[in-house]
Amino acid sequence: MSAVLDDQAVPRLAFRPMRLEDVLEVAQLERDSYRFPWSEGILRDCVRVGYCCRVVEIEHALVGYGIVSVGAGEAHLLNLCVRAAYRTRGIGRRLLEHMFEQARVEGAKELFLEVRPSNTAAIRLYQAMGFASVGLRRGYYQAENGREDAIVMRLDLR
Ligand SMILES: CC(C)(COP(=O)(O)OP(=O)(O)OC[C@H]1O[C@@H](n2cnc3c(N)ncnc32)[C@H](O)[C@@H]1OP(=O)(O)O)[C@@H](O)C(=O)NCCC(=O)NCCS
Repeated sequence: MSAVLDDQAVPRLAFRPMRLEDVLEVAQLERDSYRFPWSEGILRDCVRVGYCCRVVEIEHALVGYGIVSVGAGEAHLLNLCVRAAYRTRGIGRRLLEHMFEQARVEGAKELFLEVRPSNTAAIRLYQAMGFASVGLRRGYYQAENGREDAIVMRLDLR
């Protein structure tokens, strides 16, 4: 990674649509970030079916991505990820805000997501951005020892 990240400064972020050519790199980031990563095929399908797939770059280096599906006024945040070396610097927050805007442009009035109860960093981020827990999906996720529940969270985008 050649991107410069000054500890003192808010990094200059550039957002753009994810392209099929990005999928290999995104899949690598996915594998680096999750115990049960999405495959290249799933990521490619997300781009192909027209989900809102965005990447965030610092000086042309890909440092994160977000994927949202929108339909019937409802949006679902399917993925949100920041490269490990760039975390806890406000990029996740700004990427999420960017995804809100994209979802609004596509007509969404509310945004839902699922998150593992063990994913404290993500839960804190979502709470800080105004999401509220609205339910639990039992055994939703694959886990090391069987299955893990998902917390369902919702944000009003209006
Ligand atoms: C979740 C994730 C996207 C957050 O990205 P990030 O760039 O580190 O987040 P930010 O720096 O914008 O943090 C925003 C807020 O999130 C919370 N947060 C982020 N990382 C945290 C951590 N390690 N511990 C506790 N809270 C954390 C804080 O409330 C923080 O606000 P603050 O800086 O005012 O304290 C990132 O950790 C990640 O990519 N994780 C792996 C993939 C993943 O689990 N995605 C979510 C799937 S549901």
